[in-house]
Amino acid sequence: MAIYKSHSPQCAVWMALTLVTCVGGKILSVAATWDDSHLTPSFYDNKCPHLQKVVSSKVEAGRRRDQRLPASVLRLHFHDCFVNGCDGSILLDDRPGFVGEKSAAPNLNSARGFELIDDIKQDVEALCPDTVSCADILTIAARDSVALSGGPYWEVQLGRRDSLTASKTDAENSIPQPTFTVTQLVASFNAVGLNEKDVVALSGSHSFGKARCTSFQNRLGNQASGSQSPGSDPFLESSYLAKLQTLCPSNGDGNTTVNLDHFTPVHFDNQYYKNLQAAKGLLNSDAVLHTTNGQSNQLVEIYANDERVFFKDFAQSVLKMGSIKVMTGNKGEVRRNCRLPNTIRA
Ligand code: HEM
Ligand SMILES: *[C@@H]1O[C@H](CO)[C@@H](O)[C@H](O)[C@H]1NC(C)=O
Repeated sequence: MAIYKSHSPQCAVWMALTLVTCVGGKILSVAATWDDSHLTPSFYDNKCPHLQKVVSSKVEAGRRRDQRLPASVLRLHFHDCFVNGCDGSILLDDRPGFVGEKSAAPNLNSARGFELIDDIKQDVEALCPDTVSCADILTIAARDSVALSGGPYWEVQLGRRDSLTASKTDAENSIPQPTFTVTQLVASFNAVGLNEKDVVALSGSHSFGKARCTSFQNRLGNQASGSQSPGSDPFLESSYLAKLQTLCPSNGDGNTTVNLDHFTPVHFDNQYYKNLQAAKGLLNSDAVLHTTNGQSNQLVEIYANDERVFFKDFAQSVLKMGSIKVMTGNKGEVRRNCRLPNTIRA
């Protein structure tokens, strides 16, 4: 995408993506008259030059307050993108007459980090009002969350617009479940244009953050109730299983959280894949990547052996994820408050 410079000295505005006509130093019309369906890293370079600095300093401060926050923010980006594209839909609150995605099963009592996005949005609005979408803020914050936790850094693509609505049903149907097999995981990724390599690389996100007991209790063989208690998952190493059974006793609090990566819980690294090889993956959907023969277990081995390959593939896959069904140009809106469409008064 070319960048055009106005010839008028009174209107020396750098223009990207929008056609601007300048007469007498006044911008007369702004119209998206050519293909603007693409994202670009430079989208806010002129409209909000300090955007990325504001976001990264807020994520850094957030991480100092709460070591789990970067993981939570990365997961919000994932849950946003998988449900009708990266459009900030997960950020919309329920309100009278509207049920959004926050109460969908994969998010309820689980998705977190919304206050950090609000906090960033507030600063960004003060700096560049009505300019930066919530979906883009979430995308940048997710990148910084990984980078500040020791993971790879990549240049983000920008120019997303925010949705006017959200769908609880679509969230429940589109977000993969922790009980899934590799075949089911791949099917759910295929549905949004991603492939098996993306499944394995992006699952490396479980290198940090936490899961509730309820998300893996069925693997522990200690469920309450029932004449026919199923045994524990044979693909759980015995000392790790014992530890998990202690942390998540039968009849315990299903909301208790456990580190997804037992060894380096707040660092983004390739330890996750080494855990899988040692039968110390927390979720069923993690373990099966190693225990299922085929591309997935080959990639687990490659990533466990070489963190640079993991980082390179992760960056590639997360960029793909970030471009799922994006709205650009005049579609949707730039929300002023990430929790509400602009037509609703806060
Ligand atoms: C492959 C399919 C996936 C499944 C089945 C899955 C499932 C889950 C589950 C069940 C949890 C714990 C939620 C809870 O108990 O509260 C979780 C946490 C998490 N997931 Fe995934 N996930 C998948 C892929 C991804 C992807 C693609 C990303 C990011 C790109 C991601 C990032 C995270 C992070 C960072 C956490 C920890 C969040 C926190 O601590 O707040 N996951 N995931
Ligand atoms: C987790 O906490 C929420 C909110 O307090 C509660 O409604 C829910 O029943 C709890 N879930 C489990 C699995 O215990």
